[in-house]
Amino acid sequence: MNDTDWEVLISADRIQEGIRKLGAELTEIYSGKKIIVIPLLRGGFMFAADLVRYMDVDLQIEFLGAASYGEQTQSSGEVRLTLDTTLPLSGRDVLLVEDIIDTGLTLAYIQKLIKSRNPTSLRTIVLLDKEIRRKVAVEVNECIFSVPDRFVFGYGLDSPGGFDRNLPDIVALKE
Ligand code: IMP
Repeated sequence: MNDTDWEVLISADRIQEGIRKLGAELTEIYSGKKIIVIPLLRGGFMFAADLVRYMDVDLQIEFLGAASYGEQTQSSGEVRLTLDTTLPLSGRDVLLVEDIIDTGLTLAYIQKLIKSRNPTSLRTIVLLDKEIRRKVAVEVNECIFSVPDRFVFGYGLDSPGGFDRNLPDIVALKE
């Protein structure tokens, strides 16, 4: 996509500042524990990669993949698991890391899946909250930024066709 088509909503500096603070909080919360961090792919990969570098905690990384959007800018409402974890989650403290909560369907599905594997605890953190679009109630422990009801991308989130995840800022299509 052309950079005249979008505007910056949340700059790379603000993103890093928010994540640094959250990393410090999580360091306190998980002090003395060995946890499993699960970035939800694909969108959560960049957020998680930065977050774990701000966390002074013993942690392992596992991945879960979910897809709901297809090629459109509206959720299809149908969630598919595209990648599963390999380590057992039973008896473990799990931190689920997601890029954005929109309708909530993806997180509701993934949380149910993780809980069915009997972790000791599950904490869900999300970079962006598009609250106005919520369809199902989901328990989220922390959202760093609220975003308006606009299609956003960059910093791990893709624009239509799967591009632009590598932008350092969160941007939105110009209206
Ligand atoms: P939900 O299931 O409707 O909450 O949607 C969550 C998933 O949809 C996220 O994991 C994103 O991959 C994707 N998504 C939702 N809103 C946007 C957006 O504005 N831009 C890019 N992806 C989005």
